[in-house]
Amino acid sequence: MRVTLPLLILAASSAHAAPFMAVDNGGVKAWDSGAVNDYIIHVSCNATEVHQLRKGLADAITLAAHARDHVLRWGNASEIYQRYFGNAASGEVVGNLEKIVSADKGSVLFRCDNPDGNCDIEGWAGHWRGANATGETVICPLSFTTRRYLEQICAFGFTVSGSKPNELFGSDLIHRLYHTPAIGEGHVEHFADSYEDVLELGKHNSTFAVRDSNTLQYFALDAYAYDIAVPGIGCAGNIIKSSPEQQRTTTSSQTSSLRPSTSTAPSSTVTQPPSSTFEVPEGCPTHEGGELHCA
Ligand SMILES: *[C@@H]1O[C@H](CO)[C@@H](O)[C@H](O)[C@H]1NC(C)=O
Ligand SMILES: *[C@@H]1O[C@H](CO)[C@@H](O)[C@H](O)[C@H]1NC(C)=O
Ligand SMILES: *[C@@H]1O[C@H](CO)[C@@H](O)[C@H](O)[C@H]1NC(C)=O
Ligand SMILES: *[C@@H]1O[C@H](CO)[C@@H](O)[C@H](O)[C@H]1NC(C)=O
Ligand SMILES: [Zn+2]
Repeated sequence: MRVTLPLLILAASSAHAAPFMAVDNGGVKAWDSGAVNDYIIHVSCNATEVHQLRKGLADAITLAAHARDHVLRWGNASEIYQRYFGNAASGEVVGNLEKIVSADKGSVLFRCDNPDGNCDIEGWAGHWRGANATGETVICPLSFTTRRYLEQICAFGFTVSGSKPNELFGSDLIHRLYHTPAIGEGHVEHFADSYEDVLELGKHNSTFAVRDSNTLQYFALDAYAYDIAVPGIGCAGNIIKSSPEQQRTTTSSQTSSLRPSTSTAPSSTVTQPPSSTFEVPEGCPTHEGGELHCA
């Protein structure tokens, strides 16, 4: 008799499960039936890579969600907002950030094998697969030894203006996600490269700033650093770098009573992207060391 007990339990539990599977809204599928709410990681990623990538993707979502909330709370009254988006209306910024958080993730894939061979090129930490598979991003082994996590923002000398967004896994992945059609829609693109270019775009061309991949990353980092990581201070770094015009703007913002205000963290120098000495695949210009941007 003892031997049959587990079988009875098994039978009882499957009898309970069955009715839930049979009833599906009176035969009508839920409106969001089949929704994919988590980014998909390919089987080519091993256990430790999956573990790190999940954290990096969680960082990307945390950054984007906070940046969205910052805009919803402060709109263009935020000096951080104004710094990156000028006088642009905030709705598109909210939407582009929300895409990272809540868009359906069913057609976005992260993989850790090397289908295009680009991980063999020295210094490459990953790439968008471009025309070979527009929804796919390859993360090379280098990412797992060099990218840092969101808790490390403002540490190791990191400043928003003086460091590269790809030093943190979260912002690096925001960049990569915007290359995929599901998230960037071919609309969030590269219009400004350096931090100075990003500031210029926000000041003079805000309709493009709201859909610039780097602008959205820098804004998210700046808002998170100021609001969450080092509250009320952040780690903007020395954002007074190029023109006297910018210098005046920053000086006046430091004395403004508008929240949030600019921090005056120690200055840092902008590091040049590593120079490329390797062969670049046709139609795929690179910048920022190991990122691939296919036209
Ligand atoms: C902020 O937005 C309001 C409209 O909501 C607009 O009147 C104002 O000029 C904007 N301010 C800045 C600094 O862009
Ligand atoms: C796409 O595949 C081709 C052929 O394997 C390769 O030469 C090219 O570099 C790949 N493109 C990207 C963006 O990796
Ligand atoms: C997973 O791959 C990484 C290289 O990205 C390697 O260093 C690590 O040892 C591998 N982990 C396991 C559990 O195989
Ligand atoms: C804004 O930037 C876009 C993309 O670089 C460019 O095509 C456009 O001409 C710029 N507009 C102005 C007014 O500078
Ligand atoms: Zn890019």
